[in-house]
Amino acid sequence: MVLDTLRFGRRALLATAVFLVSATAQGSPIDEKVDGLLARMTLEEKVGQLNLVSREPDFDLESLRRGEVGAIINFPNPQLVAEMDGIARSSRLGIPLLVTIDLVHGYRTVFPLPIGMASSFDPDLVRRASAAAGRETLAAGINWAFAPMADVARDLRWGRVVEGFGEDPWLVGEFTAAQVHGFREAGIASTLKHFAGYSAVLGGRDYDVTLVPPTELYDTHLPPFRAGLRAGAESVMTALTALNGVPATSGTWLIGRVLRHDMGFRGLVVADWQAVSSLIKHGVARDGAEATRKAFRAGVDMDMTSGFYLKHLPGEVHAGRIDQSALDEAVRRVLRLKFGLGLFDRPVLDPARAQADLLRPETRAVAREAARASFVLLKNENGLLPIDPGKVKRVALVGPFADSQWDQLGPHEGNGQPGDVVTIRTGLTERAARTGVRVDYAQGCDSQCNDPRGFAAAVEAAQGADLIIAVLGEGRDLSGEGNSRANLGMPGLQQELLAKLAAIGKPIVLLVFGGRPVTLDAALERAGAAMMIWIPGTEGGPALADTLFGDADPSGRLPVSWPRSAGQMPSTYDRRPGGRPHEPGSRWTLGYNDESIFPIYPFGYGLSYTSFSYDTPEVLTPKLGIGPRAEPTLEVRASVTNTGSRAGRAVAQLYIHQPVASRSRPLRVLKGVALVPLAPGQTGTASFRVPARELGYHEPDGTLVVERGEYRAYVGSDSTAPLSGGFEVETGWREPTGSRQAANP
Ligand code: NOJ
Repeated sequence: MVLDTLRFGRRALLATAVFLVSATAQGSPIDEKVDGLLARMTLEEKVGQLNLVSREPDFDLESLRRGEVGAIINFPNPQLVAEMDGIARSSRLGIPLLVTIDLVHGYRTVFPLPIGMASSFDPDLVRRASAAAGRETLAAGINWAFAPMADVARDLRWGRVVEGFGEDPWLVGEFTAAQVHGFREAGIASTLKHFAGYSAVLGGRDYDVTLVPPTELYDTHLPPFRAGLRAGAESVMTALTALNGVPATSGTWLIGRVLRHDMGFRGLVVADWQAVSSLIKHGVARDGAEATRKAFRAGVDMDMTSGFYLKHLPGEVHAGRIDQSALDEAVRRVLRLKFGLGLFDRPVLDPARAQADLLRPETRAVAREAARASFVLLKNENGLLPIDPGKVKRVALVGPFADSQWDQLGPHEGNGQPGDVVTIRTGLTERAARTGVRVDYAQGCDSQCNDPRGFAAAVEAAQGADLIIAVLGEGRDLSGEGNSRANLGMPGLQQELLAKLAAIGKPIVLLVFGGRPVTLDAALERAGAAMMIWIPGTEGGPALADTLFGDADPSGRLPVSWPRSAGQMPSTYDRRPGGRPHEPGSRWTLGYNDESIFPIYPFGYGLSYTSFSYDTPEVLTPKLGIGPRAEPTLEVRASVTNTGSRAGRAVAQLYIHQPVASRSRPLRVLKGVALVPLAPGQTGTASFRVPARELGYHEPDGTLVVERGEYRAYVGSDSTAPLSGGFEVETGWREPTGSRQAANP
């Protein structure tokens, strides 16, 4: 069985690799096959390939046999997938289905949420995790991932920050590319979503409109998409939102100009869920025919679940309002993807075999490693962590998320099953027993925490303990799509529960659970140690036990700035100084009169069980000239020393600032990360190489500008790193948009 899986995986990988090479060249073997098939298709069969349907109670199996369905979603069950694909293959032309899922953080083995995995600051880990998740997914017959989400989290009230890789465009781009590579290794196609600007919804309210100036679109929102396309993403999904008044799904400029022309994308564009029919609700189409016309003409190839293409496209083509050749081109994109993935050569799935490929030990091992890498130690007074079994004999474990298999799966859990999850309680109890430590558990309250009747039992458990571990925060149902929050505090009476525990006077470790940072308020004072554990997935329990007992060192860093209050939103580290930059205590400078301007923890922050110190960075390329024939690389390095008594991994970060430019530039922008494992007392080197064009910004028409002048490079442990070195760009560079394309899958 193992051998079969490997062979199948390799075949799929080869097929994808062939696809990527051949699909770029006209007249390639795939194009010949596509054209041959296209020539045999009726108009209705062509339109069928542009129709993506979901599993609904009234799902019409005959529509598959009639060739009216090109792709299906929400069949997280190998048996059903096999049945659907079998029927599609029995249609007149036997075209196999694209089978998709929101592969956000795993299929059956559930990994930490993307925002958690981003805390690893380790794209290679995300590549491996995505490959492992992709292999499980492919085994279940699913060949097309609706991931990664390349949207940049600019406002933590937005529930979908869980699905992405944080607030920084460069970091999100690194992880987006890593995930695309991982899925490719597994043999499944990726979808970059949601094009574009979706995360800029007003007030963080999911589905609200977005107002994004073009410079901001180019500098902040598009770079991760560019990175994902360069990595070879096969498809792109339009956003549900309207960008500056124009719904993304009917955005001819956005799709036609920016994505297709400027970025050079030749793959498949799919509308988000009913985004075609929602053009009527947006108020830009009178009826289904007009919505269909607008979306299709804008460049949307496939309609997800509105059924409008199936219903209206044939009529629009007959009436001459949509060109037959444009329709053929859209169908070609679908068929190219199907041939490229090798679907025509794959046998129909054997569901019995699929089961054996789920939850394999090697997949669980990567999930455990990813969970460990996602934990961010925020506070650790007097070395409270790791737990010292010499001093701690009894631990009281309390809180609504300490033993919740359901919450630990998180939102968008694929085919994850609560029964597979090893909870924090189970993981910790097993590990503790090995060193003679006893764990007493009391839930305290449920995830809403409106009922204090369980507090007494929690207090009783805590009274007999040497250490209290409280797992508090947000339940899984408070984040994800459609789960925006106006308040960012811990829901219900959780603060009161913690206050009661603190009154006992025992040391407290606070584990913050959830899909976004919550405002910690008094909880932070009450806890001697605090660690963000996000929503850690199937292997969260053992991963936490590894970390709490010091078998693993926490090296996660915050991929978002941690706010003090919801009123600070939106607030990111890469803001601009303003004409009256913030001066503490000065009313006439940028700030609030009732809140600090700064986050409680900055972007990039995180502690380890050891400590690190940095030397002033050295710029090896103090002068850079960029031009048509010169694409220099900025090279920076800094010494970093492990100043503590335990081994650990420094997460060295490089930030760039251009103090004087034609446009006010961000105070800092992240441009590099170096992971440096160090033994106690050891000194290592963090080295960074940044292509000089990465130093630039965009003008409103998308022109990339790298200006002459002085720059500074900061290296350190987070976005407030104080030490820097200077360098100069001697000759600048202007690159009109579209002159260098991102990708051509
Ligand atoms: C709507 C979401 O916006 C999108 O991300 C997802 O892929 C689709 N639903 C399908 O579930």
